[in-house]
Formats: sequence, C-alpha cells, structure tokens
Amino acid sequence: MINMQRVYFATGNPHKVEEAKLILRDYNVELMHLNTQRVEIQSSDLVEIAVYSLNQIVKDFKQPVFVEDTGLFINSLNGFPGPFSSYVFKTLGNKGIIKLMKGEADRNALFKTVIAFKESDRDQIKIFIGETLGLISEEIRGVGWGYDPLFIPLEGDGRTYAEMSLEEKNLLSHRFKALKSLGDYLRKV
Ligand code: IMP
Repeated sequence: MINMQRVYFATGNPHKVEEAKLILRDYNVELMHLNTQRVEIQSSDLVEIAVYSLNQIVKDFKQPVFVEDTGLFINSLNGFPGPFSSYVFKTLGNKGIIKLMKGEADRNALFKTVIAFKESDRDQIKIFIGETLGLISEEIRGVGWGYDPLFIPLEGDGRTYAEMSLEEKNLLSHRFKALKSLGDYLRKV
C-alpha cells in the first residue's frame, strides 16, 4: 500500500474541508482538519491575509499545514467584495449581492483561492493560487454554501456551483485548482 502523506488544513469551515479531502485523496494526501477560527487581518490582498493566518497557526503547530483565503471578485463592482467576501456574505448575503447587481448587464466575476502552506517550521511558506471565471446569476439557484448559489462557472454548463454535485464542483472550482497545484508540489517533494 502506498503511504499517504498527512497534511493539516486549518480552517473553521467544514465545507472547505469536505471539498479538499476528496481532491487531495487523488494526490495520496490524507487531509486532517485542524479546526481553528482564524485571526483574519483586513487587507486588500488575499496572499497577505493567508500568510498572516498561517503564521499565527505555525507558532504552535509543527506539522505540514495550510490555510486558504478565498474571494469573489465581481467585475461591475470593481472587484468587490474580493478580500472582504466573508464580511459581505455575513452582512449582505446572496440576496444583497443580487440587489446590488439588479439591472447590471456585466455579470462577470472571478472566484480566487490562495493557499499558504508550510511543511515544517523551518520551511518557507509556499503559495498556491486557483481561479475560476464565472457569471453572477440573477437569482439564487440551488442549495449550497456561501456564494455557491450565485456563481455560474464559465467552464460549466450554465448551472451554479450549488446546482452541481460536490464531485462536479471539484472538477473546475477555484479551490480545486489551488489544491491541484499543492498536490502536484507535494508529489515532487
Ligand atoms: P473565506 O474568507 O476564505 O472563508 O471566504 C470568504 C467568503 O467566501 C465566505 O463567506 C465563504 O463562505 C465564501 N466562500 C469561500 N469559498 C467559497 C466557495 O467555494 N463557494 C462559495 N462561497 C465560498
């Protein structure tokens, strides 16, 4: 039997863990959930947010570990909510985004995930990025977490992430692409 490599994902979000477990299994990575509530700095840069969070965690955790920060960047709103996606989801929610976008012809958006990974406390932080282009739907479609009911990936068939199965989302999502880069990196080391 091939030995699985154990890597920890520090997050308070069980949906992210569920997605990542399935994706990383194909890379022989046994994903462990390190349940943490992140200290998130306000910054306009996802990389800066992820690196800050990881540095907080590795102070007392010495195993291979990563954090990720994700943002939804909407074209017609000049990239808003972007790095503020978590706060905007809590305050405006999907209904609020739909209201903001009412009558807007340009529905283009980008979902971006930044992973910050550290193998051990002696190593440099490695960054892996995944991006998926899409459209913001005009109404909530499907049952899913976060912005999934609003986001229609361009690589898909017109359904929102929330209308897809977990496996379907995992073939084209921003998170899949970032985790694929991490998986490829881990295969080589
Ligand atoms: P976070 O700061 O990385 O946890 O994510 C920012 C916001 O985007 C949160 O409200 C998440 O629920 C949401 N989010 C992150 N990833 C996804 C996703 O894959 N689908 C839908 N919403 C997401």
